[in-house]
Amino acid sequence: METQIFDIIDIKKSAALIQNAAQILRRGGTVAFPTETVYGLGANALDAEAVAKIFEAKGRPSDNPLIVHISEKEALFQLTDSVSEVARALIDAFWPGPLTLVLPKRSTVPACVTAGLDTVAVRMPSHPVARALIEASGIPVAAPSANLSGKPSPTDADHVIHDLSGRVDAIVCGKPSDVGLESTVLDVTGSVPMILRPGGVTREDIIRCVGMCDVDPAIEKQLSSETAPKSPGMKYTHYAPDAELIIINGEPDQIRLEITSRQKALEEKGLKVGIMTCDEHIDAYTCLLKKSLGSRTDLSGVASRLFSILRDFDKEHVDVILAEGYPREGIGHALMNRMLKAAGHHVINV
Ligand code: TXA
Ligand code: MG
Repeated sequence: METQIFDIIDIKKSAALIQNAAQILRRGGTVAFPTETVYGLGANALDAEAVAKIFEAKGRPSDNPLIVHISEKEALFQLTDSVSEVARALIDAFWPGPLTLVLPKRSTVPACVTAGLDTVAVRMPSHPVARALIEASGIPVAAPSANLSGKPSPTDADHVIHDLSGRVDAIVCGKPSDVGLESTVLDVTGSVPMILRPGGVTREDIIRCVGMCDVDPAIEKQLSSETAPKSPGMKYTHYAPDAELIIINGEPDQIRLEITSRQKALEEKGLKVGIMTCDEHIDAYTCLLKKSLGSRTDLSGVASRLFSILRDFDKEHVDVILAEGYPREGIGHALMNRMLKAAGHHVINV
């Protein structure tokens, strides 16, 4: 398949490109596009045949449901009949933005989008290119992250081209994603909203808005394929770089000692080691392949660079990545959730 590449440098001057991409979506094709969280791979959410192409292109298991993206709040009523007061308050506070709401679904939403569940996940992105594309297409757009299944999510157009070129109809290329981690997935079908996947909108943000918020206990666990989590995506390998990733948690000084001693031991075995660190610690390591996620005092910045740096290590064919852990505060929850999954829960506590 030939993939068309649309470079959007200035959204005002790119209306024709957006129209072309929107037409591909309307005709049942697949289009990857930038959002503020990560790049998404979109298709018409109301067309089962179009949605099947997403699963095919990504190699995604069919029991993992998709998020439907809309460009205006009113479009929600094409997808659900039931928006509670709590859901309404959250929509008013956080849309457009990195919050996905799980709501009871209408029969208009094909079963393949929701993997047979009776709920549908909906999000209104804030990214101007995403909004313009969805608006121009005039349809709700189902879009998972635009990576090959299991790989780190794409935060840059180059990541999408690397994974999906030749597998999708078009890629709309914009700037790197700001948030860099996928949206918070929040189930609002029960009496208390429950986080199924931590993200850019934190538990604290949700409590401030509606006074209550639970976190699905399954998030912190390593799930076996037999358990059925509320968010089916949680049971699969995710975000995994080609290299083995090991997370070292603890006090900063002890983390540095542990990483340095492990680095030496691994290098003696002839393995190529990378160290994923921060601005404050990078000079303390002698490793040739060390990369900083930014300053520890700016966890949002660290989170925004995680997926991109994991891909950079893969480009250098590293065997093992030794990574420093971060505090689970605010966006740190989502950051550590993605790191733990990428590491297959391989953590050393010092
Ligand atoms: O930020 C994002 O959410 C990005 C961008 C492109 O918008 N999209 C994204 O989609 O991360 P994806 O498919 O990679 O992740 C969707 C997650 C999966 O964990 C899936 O299991 C969960 O949302 N999900 C989707 N529909 C659901 C539903 N009805 N109930 C529970 N979980 C659901
Ligand atoms: Mg994904």
